[in-house]
Amino acid sequence: MSESGENVAPTPRGLPAEVARRRTFAVISHPDAGKSTLTEALALHARMISEAGAIHGKAGRKSTVSDWMEMEKARGISVSSTALQFNYRAAGSDIDNVINLVDTPGHSDFSEDTYRVLTAVDAAVMLIDAAKGLEPQTLKLFQVCRHRGIPVITVINKWDRPGQAPLELLDEISERIGLTPTPLFLPVGIAGDFRGLLRRGPEGEPSEYIHFTRTAGGATIAPEEYLNSTEAEAREGEAWTTAAEESELLSATGQDHDQEMFLAGQTSPVIYASAMLNFGVRQLLETLVELAPAPGSRADVTGKERTTGDPFSAVVFKVQAGMDTAHRDRLAFMRIVSGEFERGMVVTHAQTGRPFATKYALTVFGRERTTVDTAYPGDVVGLVNATALAPGHTLFVEKKVEYPPIPSFAPEHFATLRAQSAGKYKQFRKAIDQLDSEGVVQVLRNDARGDATPVLAAVGPMQFEVVTARMQGEFNVETQLDFLPFTLARRTDAESAPELDRQRGVEVFTRTDGVILALFSDKWRLQYIEKEHPKLTLEPLVATA
Ligand code: G4P
Repeated sequence: MSESGENVAPTPRGLPAEVARRRTFAVISHPDAGKSTLTEALALHARMISEAGAIHGKAGRKSTVSDWMEMEKARGISVSSTALQFNYRAAGSDIDNVINLVDTPGHSDFSEDTYRVLTAVDAAVMLIDAAKGLEPQTLKLFQVCRHRGIPVITVINKWDRPGQAPLELLDEISERIGLTPTPLFLPVGIAGDFRGLLRRGPEGEPSEYIHFTRTAGGATIAPEEYLNSTEAEAREGEAWTTAAEESELLSATGQDHDQEMFLAGQTSPVIYASAMLNFGVRQLLETLVELAPAPGSRADVTGKERTTGDPFSAVVFKVQAGMDTAHRDRLAFMRIVSGEFERGMVVTHAQTGRPFATKYALTVFGRERTTVDTAYPGDVVGLVNATALAPGHTLFVEKKVEYPPIPSFAPEHFATLRAQSAGKYKQFRKAIDQLDSEGVVQVLRNDARGDATPVLAAVGPMQFEVVTARMQGEFNVETQLDFLPFTLARRTDAESAPELDRQRGVEVFTRTDGVILALFSDKWRLQYIEKEHPKLTLEPLVATA
């Protein structure tokens, strides 16, 4: 497989054109919805790989290139999440678009990083399993997209398998999350009998029928034929007329694409697909190119917008340490916000005011690393040995800027951690501060527990494993982790804290950023306390549920 950046030729066309041709997005989904399969199908369509199965290693398909998921499983920590960059030329276009697919770790390693990735993208693809509909992890990630105002394109996957009726799935989306689905394409053939896609024109009139032909194992791009309505009806009969009627029905309820409403996060264009058979994948790429926004300006801490044409600036959204135990490296991934990045340039780290040399700049996908020489707004670049950088930090040249910090997301898992040997207490304290500043986990304290056993709070339990593994591997401290019976956190204040602390099933802590958190054993406890003590301050954290 060719690699991130490799097939992106430097072009002399200048910054505005580079920005305009970029699309940076992430896929949000529940495990097993088909994210890896879709990533692979996108790579296939962009001709980065010649045969699907290479990445995913699906039985019966070729298993050749990246085994990063196996590595993750074996090592127990995330080594993947970064960005895949590829060129895509839409039909009829004379320019190559540059697509950045930023990976959201979404399997066993679901963690705060998964949410942080969403601060680095301009759009999201919500991937739904046609048989299962909306699932919990998708919902959580969707809430983060909504909170950040990220436009969402919906892909209903696995249409080659029996599932729900097409409009039923759309109802579920609008009823459960209040997002109006506006299909751009409707499936021809029920779930399990996927023949092709009806492209919806103005007012729901079918404008085209795209008929797909299966290839062996879905390993290569599915050939497409384009028919008009009359030809489509003659060929598919009732399957076509049903899809055409559904399209009309949707228009009658106002479910037609509206670019402004899509960008405002009120509606979501929908595509039915089979990532496994490569059906609908080209349509997704074209939708991204046509409808998803190009990188835009970003507000700094004072609310002033930095435009993409301003001098270089970037936001660090993820720090990954210990990816390679032999080298003990530490990679900070930044999303470029403005200006052109050139490897070797000396940038300023806004949080410390110190210079930072960018000699080692990489893209990382799976275990492959490629040096990046030039990058533009929307691109993701990994900086090696960036010890001072933490998620939310800003880098810039010339014109000073600092972007708002990435919010901490609502933790759902809590545990105490302590050094097994009292003699290691000093290292332990130092390590906790380090991991806290990197954003590996949230650290909570209160007087009752003292400093020797801080409480760690995480979005996903995998974060704890990273902490204990790094404590041992990097800081040489054996630790003991004990889970606490809390599942829910609410923001409170100094006034409400004493009363809350007196309640059964509740404990109050201060997080390192000064936020006072009350932890609850479960939502029923919280509801009861809210009812009994309506005056207490209890606010949700950045909502993910
Ligand atoms: P994930 O990354 O979101 O977790 O999902 P992944 O791509 O690994 O897909 C999960 C399962 O769903 C895989 O099957 C995959 O082959 C299947 N799948 C993905 N897209 C489609 C699709 O469009 N149609 C159908 N029918 N299946 C799809 P598995 O049996 O769990 O894995 P494997 O053992 O076959 O590799």
